[in-house]
Formats: sequence, C-alpha cells, structure tokens
Amino acid sequence: MQVIILENPQQVAQHASEWIVELLSKKAHPVLGLATGSTPISLYQKLVQRHQQDQTDFSHVTSFNLDEYHNIEADNKQSYRMFMKQNLFDKINIDQTNTHLPTCNLIQDPRVQGMAYEDKIRNAGGIDLQILGIGGNGHIGFNEPSSSLSSRTRLKTLTKQTLQDNSRLFDSAEYQPSMAMTMGIATILDAKYVLLMATGKNKAKAVNEMINGPLSARCPASALQLHQHAVIVLDKDAASELSNQEYYIWANREHQKINQDYGFFL
Ligand code: F6R
Repeated sequence: MQVIILENPQQVAQHASEWIVELLSKKAHPVLGLATGSTPISLYQKLVQRHQQDQTDFSHVTSFNLDEYHNIEADNKQSYRMFMKQNLFDKINIDQTNTHLPTCNLIQDPRVQGMAYEDKIRNAGGIDLQILGIGGNGHIGFNEPSSSLSSRTRLKTLTKQTLQDNSRLFDSAEYQPSMAMTMGIATILDAKYVLLMATGKNKAKAVNEMINGPLSARCPASALQLHQHAVIVLDKDAASELSNQEYYIWANREHQKINQDYGFFL
C-alpha cells in the first residue's frame, strides 16, 4: 500500500484528480471505477474544473460505479445515477452511454443482474483505476463487515450504522433503501489500480484498521492489503490514528521524486 498523508480534503481531491488526469493522458480508452458519497464530491469538482479550464477530454472514458440502491429509479433524486449526473457526468464531455451503474430493479433476479454487471466490466477490459471511499465501519462499496473477501457484484443489506451515516442525505419523509447492489471485494481487487480517499476524524479508526489491522472480513477495506497497487490518500484527520505517519510522509517524498522523474506509473 502507498499511504499518502496530505494537509486537508482539498489536497486529497487534488491528488486524486491528478491520478485520473494522468490515466486519461496515458490510455486511449480508459476505464474508471467511480464512487458516490460525500468524499469524492470535491474530486469531481476538480475534474469539472480541469474539463472547463484545460479542456481535459472525457469523451473516450468508460465508467463503472461501485453501487446503486435497490429498487430506485434512475431519475429518483436519491439514485446514485442522479448523484453522478449532478456531480460529474452532466458537467464533462463523457458519453453517458458509456457510464454504468449496477442495475437493481424488481424485474429480474438480482443475482442475474449482479453477474451481468461483472460481465460488462470484463467486456470493457477491466477497470484501470477504481476510486473508493471508506465507511466508518470499514466498508468499501457497500461491502459491509462480514462480506466475503472474494465476493462479486450482488445485493447487500446495509448495516444500521451505514443507514444512520447516510440518513443525513434523506429528508425525514423520504424512503431510504436498506439494500444496495454493490461490486464485490474481488471485483474491486481486480481493478489495476485502486485509489481510496478518506478525510475527517470519523474515518480515522477504519483507516487504521484497513492499513494496520488484520486482513479480515470485519474490516472489508483491509482486503486492499492484498492489492498490488493500492494508493490510500488521507487528510491529517483521517490519518490521525496511524502510528507510523512519519514513515509514510518520508516514503511518499521519495516516491514523489520517482513520479517527477518518470511520471505516474499507470
Ligand atoms: C459510495 C460507496 C461507499 C462510500 C462510503 C463513504 O459509492 O460505495 O463505500 O464511499 O460510505 O461515504 P462518504 O464519502 O459519504 O463518507
């Protein structure tokens, strides 16, 4: 794991955006894995800025989102499709027919819908760079604690903690789904690169368990210890429970020299 500790959430977003822009410049048909939630919003703002100011081109990008709520129409304001449209897709020149979120409707067996999403990712050549956030309970995507470390896209029931954490986004009268279709942990580990962003003190415990804890379904993000190219980008608050911060800061400085000399390795 490469652990990068930065001053504040804006720097975390800036760093993540540089990875994406680098990928776009290196690959003719990049495949991005995207996340929703509060953390990547500032990353998407940076990408929109890059598009508007530097004409960063998204026209050849294919994207796959981590998850979508169960039984929620794409045009519902709470759907993750709507979140992505409002925060990114409608503001850049991506071809929206190449943007994918898992389907999770009542028409078809959810297990078939999950497998179809896996096929779509495989047929696109796999994900080059997967963006992740982390839940306060260590989830990635909606792989809640106890998720199989070799899980694939499937329907998951959300934990009380996740429902409570996300209730801030729903009006009191609004229906909050308690299930979601999510990429599995094995699906995430298949991505060539993963970049996890975490900001704020409320993530510090989960971040420490992910990096220093045992590899365990108790903290699904700990599965990233198995990934060959996992980049963890943290602000100071999210890093605050890590014991060996000085080492990460020093190692990252050395790493930056390599990036300056040779560019990002993607
Ligand atoms: C979002 C997702 C979740 C979030 C996590 C953190 O697509 O899969 O794993 O990344 O719940 O959410 P925020 O960023 O709102 O704290």
